[in-house]
Amino acid sequence: MININKQNELINAAMKVRENAYAPYSNFQVAAALLCADNEIITGVNIESSSYGLSVCAERNTIAAAVAKGKKEFIAMAVVSQNGVTPCGACRQVIFDICGNIDIILGDENGSIQDITSTKVLLPKAFSHEDLG
Ligand code: THU
Repeated sequence: MININKQNELINAAMKVRENAYAPYSNFQVAAALLCADNEIITGVNIESSSYGLSVCAERNTIAAAVAKGKKEFIAMAVVSQNGVTPCGACRQVIFDICGNIDIILGDENGSIQDITSTKVLLPKAFSHEDLG
C-alpha cells in the first residue's frame, strides 16, 4: 500500500480540481487523482450531460486522460466526494481493466480519508481480458 504522504498527496490533488466538476444535475461533485508508475499524478472530474445517461464519472475521465498521455502502469487512485463514496460498478470494471489491482483511497469533502481499499476488494471475481481467450 502507498504511504500516508502519497495518500495525502493524491487526496490533495483531487481536492484541488473537484470544484471543476461539471455536475449541474446531481450537484454531486467528484474528483479523482491517479498515481502513475512514473510518479506523475493525473486528475479528473465528473462531467454530466443534459441527457443524464451520458454523464461520465470522475474515475473514468481520469483514466481516459492518463491513457491519452501514454500512461500504462498505475499505482493508486484517490476519489474525493461528499462523504467519500466508493466508485460505481462501471468504474470498478474500467479501473480493473486499465489499472489492475491498485490502491483506492476514498476522501470526503474535507479531504479526510474515509477508507482505503483496492480494485480486487471492490470487484471480486472480476471479468477481464483473460476471459476473452
Ligand atoms: N460519480 C462519480 O463521478 N464517481 C463516483 O464514484 C460516483 C458517482 C458521479 C456521476 C454523477 O455525475 C454524479 O456523481 C452523481 O451520481
